[in-house]
Amino acid sequence: MGRMGVTLAIIGAAATCAIAAHLVAKRVRQRANWSRALAIYHDFRDGCATPLHRLRQVVDAMVVEMHAGLALEGGSKLKMLLSYVDNLPTGEENGLFYALDLGGTNFRVLRVQLAGTEGRILQQEYEEVSIPQALMVGSNEELFDFIVAELASFITREGEGFHPLLGRQRELGFTFSFPVKQTSIDSGNLLKWTKGFAIKETVGKDVVEELQAAMGRHKLDMRVTALVNDTVGTLAGGRYWNEDVMVAVILGTGSNACYVERADAIPKWRGVLPKSGSTVINMEWGSFWSSHLPRTPVDDTLDADSLNPGDQVGFEKLISGMYLGDIVRRILLKMAEEAALFGNTVPSNLFIPFILRTPDVSAMHADESADLKEVTRVLRVVFKTQASLRVRKIVVDVCDTVAGRAARLVAAGVVGILKKIGRDTVGNIDMARLKNNLAGKGRKTVVAMDGGLYEHYPKFRTYLNDTAVELLGKEAAEQVAVELSKDGSGIGAALLAASHSQYSSD
Ligand code: BGC
Repeated sequence: MGRMGVTLAIIGAAATCAIAAHLVAKRVRQRANWSRALAIYHDFRDGCATPLHRLRQVVDAMVVEMHAGLALEGGSKLKMLLSYVDNLPTGEENGLFYALDLGGTNFRVLRVQLAGTEGRILQQEYEEVSIPQALMVGSNEELFDFIVAELASFITREGEGFHPLLGRQRELGFTFSFPVKQTSIDSGNLLKWTKGFAIKETVGKDVVEELQAAMGRHKLDMRVTALVNDTVGTLAGGRYWNEDVMVAVILGTGSNACYVERADAIPKWRGVLPKSGSTVINMEWGSFWSSHLPRTPVDDTLDADSLNPGDQVGFEKLISGMYLGDIVRRILLKMAEEAALFGNTVPSNLFIPFILRTPDVSAMHADESADLKEVTRVLRVVFKTQASLRVRKIVVDVCDTVAGRAARLVAAGVVGILKKIGRDTVGNIDMARLKNNLAGKGRKTVVAMDGGLYEHYPKFRTYLNDTAVELLGKEAAEQVAVELSKDGSGIGAALLAASHSQYSSD
């Protein structure tokens, strides 16, 4: 070999060494990244842990806060709002009624023809319209005008058979699913917006007056006879078909619960107690707070970056459909930034808040294919990225952690309510029934559930139901039924509009 040949051989060997060194370094880096990713995930998972003893603390805290919120105004973060619904539907409701359901990304208008105990619901028609994002953060007048314009057009297009009786106004139940301090069954002031709505000028105003004013502007002759939260609408809609419904829970964009409470168990009640002896309490459990709640730094940043920092932090931002996807996104982003989960560059879509929706989380969580096809699809479509199988597996684990925590906390919340009304053990159910004449007559206590999270997320539902059984014990759990009450809140509002009709006494 000549001198030239020797030189080339040395250069070649050096290059091979350099490549090998580079590969080794890369592998070392990858290993370090993977360990770091696992460490981030494990930290998060530990922070989200909901062992049974912790859930029992949450149950007890819920009961304590319920008492405190009922004792006096501002007694707890749980508002325990009076609904002024002292009677629930009986089946005797009769006539043509409307409902307007505003509370999430969509709103609905609904028309029902009620025909008493025999005919029940003769006919119902509804329309759903999505609310443009800009209106959720725009002006008060624009929002109410938009809603009323849709309502007016719904009415213009209705058939001949739908005219109100001569000389009578059309009547409407207004489901307004935000915290409202009611002053009567048909009036109430907005306490704060939630779920991505933020229109400052509405806060403190009577939302029925705002709606009626918009109706005036649109020359729509209609009267709001009942203002109800969606939980209260769901309870009323559920009770119409099943007299054992005592509790209603919404697990949708937001989350909340209401239940039937004895009026004499409400120290903050002013004035004459209702004849029925009971009333419905809108808990506004989204703002429930307890130091026993399993929280992580990711939850804190999600809250800090939200439109309503400091609000709905304890419960809603851990459990509701609006936030689950974004919790998952945030933890994946952390793993991508600190541990190159998706390679050396972080996929830019991972930075976009709320880009990952809860239905995507449900789809990935449910993926049982060997190569996690659905996870591959969601990562490609939403984040415009791809990942190895082991990364896809960790993505599923993150979904499981986030949804599992949420579902188990919801179960603890429901058991807290059952405990408060004495329906959590086998022995004390009859006693509670004797004291409460709004109470159901059957053997069971029924919890009416509505919302996409319960309806369309099978693993969430299973976690929730299993945890309720764990907490209650098998025997007591047999006396409780959780039932899907699909879209009950609109019908429920129409039923309450009927029972509070201005013409009901004639
Ligand atoms: C609101 C509640 C509502 C719940 C479910 C929450 O954000 O504060 O009033 O019932 O969402 O829609």
